[in-house]
Amino acid sequence: MSIPIAKKYIKDFEKLGFGMFVHFGLYSLIRRGEWIAKLGERDGSLPVEERDYKSLMKAFNPQSMKEIVKTAKFAGAKYITLTTRHHDGFSLYDTCGLNEYDAPHALCGRDLVREFVDACREEDIVPFFYHTTLEFWHPDFENNFDRYLEYLRESVKLLCTNYGKIGGLWFDGNWSKQGEGDVWQEDKLYGMIRKYQPDAMIINNTGLSELGKVGHPELDSVTFERGRIAPLDREGMEKYVAAEMCDSVNMHWGVAEDINFKSPKELIEMLCDCRRVGANFLLNVGPNADGTVPEYPTAIFNAIGHWLNIFGEAVYEAEPFWWGEGRNFAVKKGNNVYFFCYDLCRKGSEDVVYFGGKEGEYLFADFPVEVKNVRWMDNGERLACSYENGDLCIELTGYPYGVDYCVRVAKAEIK
Ligand code: GLC
Repeated sequence: MSIPIAKKYIKDFEKLGFGMFVHFGLYSLIRRGEWIAKLGERDGSLPVEERDYKSLMKAFNPQSMKEIVKTAKFAGAKYITLTTRHHDGFSLYDTCGLNEYDAPHALCGRDLVREFVDACREEDIVPFFYHTTLEFWHPDFENNFDRYLEYLRESVKLLCTNYGKIGGLWFDGNWSKQGEGDVWQEDKLYGMIRKYQPDAMIINNTGLSELGKVGHPELDSVTFERGRIAPLDREGMEKYVAAEMCDSVNMHWGVAEDINFKSPKELIEMLCDCRRVGANFLLNVGPNADGTVPEYPTAIFNAIGHWLNIFGEAVYEAEPFWWGEGRNFAVKKGNNVYFFCYDLCRKGSEDVVYFGGKEGEYLFADFPVEVKNVRWMDNGERLACSYENGDLCIELTGYPYGVDYCVRVAKAEIK
């Protein structure tokens, strides 16, 4: 048995490392998450009837898709996965007559996917399309599933043929209907995508209950929705698949009345945990209905961008190389190895600095290569190291007063 060789477009995807997930749609006007159409109805907390919900189109008027893309760019994201259609069935793209429940028929009167794709190309960001497979209200979804699936394929075909080369498609909703055989006619759907976008990643979210599960043979990556990332055992797999973990800046995907935000530290650590095993991190934000990004998430993304500005060289394109029992790990790129170090202390006077965290010798046991010239990437400080019986020992130093990067990375050359 062996590990299968990855196709080039799957390798290219892995190199992107960090992406921005964007949940944007009519629900952004209500500001109670992207499931409000369903859940508001059920618990009666908001008067969301199908008719009322759909009439939100009359008020949906985003000014531009550019700000979302600019925020992603500044954050160091290399790709954006945008909800082109979510479970409420509303499309941000021109459905070209499949129905009139789309952005060109809303108040804005424009194809927002086209604007999104154009803005991405301007900023050198790879556009990915999230597309729901489940629809809350489509009459055929319950009554004529074959016809529904045909409509789904026609919809996806528009995304594959009208917007030039895209990074990939990210499906979500198959978890809602399971059974024997090819229930969702995935063969047909993916076959169609391969025809028009041969190098697009095809991803289908396995949902919260089946993190990391390998699905249909055409799928190119497994997903870890809101999960702790785990290394994939690719030994003996039919095909090499990538891995991606998604999570949100707070507890919702669509914009919501939710101040339960994660800290930059938590998110930077999540990104690093993903890169430890070569997975991508897809971090979500729910923009305001006008297309602007709320202030606090903007600040979070800016903080990550600041970190990536300093350490990004170790994040993009690098391959997993070493990990041990602790959280610290190493990745490799060309002739360099990068050591990711968590929980370092801050130095200074005990009158002012909150002490915590560690410094000193750290053992990278059974390290596969000898290294030289180990230096922190942020200030170039050289770190003492020794190599004995295959174990590498590096003298890690804490943050100088005035600095804290949550995770600090040292770069070294392979001897
Ligand atoms: C879930 C939800 C959905 C969200 C997605 C993001 O499957 O149904 O609202 O878009 O997760 O991963």
